[in-house]
Amino acid sequence: MTISQRIVESLPFLDSIAEKVQPLVQRAVGKGGVTVRNVLDGSPLQLPLHPALTDVPVGSWTAALLFDGLDAATDSRAMRSAADASLAVGTVSGVAAAATGLSDWRYLTGGSRRMGVAHGLLNAAGLTLSAASVILRATGRRNAGRWAFLIGYSLSGTAAHLGGELSYNYGLRVNRNVFEKPGPDDFTPILKESELPQSGVRRVETDGVGVLLSRNRNGEICAIAATCGHFSGPLEEGERVDDTIICPWHGSRFNLCTGKVINGPAVFPQSRYETRVRDGNIEVRAAAGNVQKKVR
Ligand code: FES
Repeated sequence: MTISQRIVESLPFLDSIAEKVQPLVQRAVGKGGVTVRNVLDGSPLQLPLHPALTDVPVGSWTAALLFDGLDAATDSRAMRSAADASLAVGTVSGVAAAATGLSDWRYLTGGSRRMGVAHGLLNAAGLTLSAASVILRATGRRNAGRWAFLIGYSLSGTAAHLGGELSYNYGLRVNRNVFEKPGPDDFTPILKESELPQSGVRRVETDGVGVLLSRNRNGEICAIAATCGHFSGPLEEGERVDDTIICPWHGSRFNLCTGKVINGPAVFPQSRYETRVRDGNIEVRAAAGNVQKKVR
């Protein structure tokens, strides 16, 4: 267990906060509809939006810190203006980053949810102090503004570290398909064609990986990874709608033939398998672009 984990684990009140706040966040994000949810998740861009957006406040605040230091050392009006502008950009972009972060947190459970609360509380305090600093500077209390920002920056930096824990230690927003075996390089028989239903889906194991077989509306046989790339949900237990499958855990929707994400929270496409029929058997082989093949 890391030091951060040990500290967070020793703070049970974080769970009480999560139990009260998480349903509110889920309801608020749900009310936005599918498009808002997809945007917050980053599904249209095929990248988790929160980590990308956090670069803006972190970079802007770091620049503000640097300009504040140069202003203190040189009493330069230009440095002062640059510090104020960077701080304002960081504070505004911090609000957008917070919205996407809350959205990511809405489906966490257990230790990762608790770590998410600690991350969020520290960030909220850091953001509030940065906003206070903007006001203090604008009203002529620059020294107080600098101190408020300095404390806020330290809190946001600690929060950023916990955000890293969430990704690297808890696997938040990591494509779970990457941990699967790649599947066969050469066409391998996995099921008699007669055993694949005309509708629905069928999970078959081959070379240590679960493959989700289906027939599309044109009768073509399709195959994608059976384990959801979001949090490893079992797609074979999901609901099939036309040529798509909806994950039973958090509702991500994938194209059954291409693996493409139709709706989040997943952002990465499902790994895909090429199919053919030989001697009455369905054969599959891993597609060249699959993420498993890129890391081995
Ligand atoms: S595991 Fe979360 S959407 Fe599938």
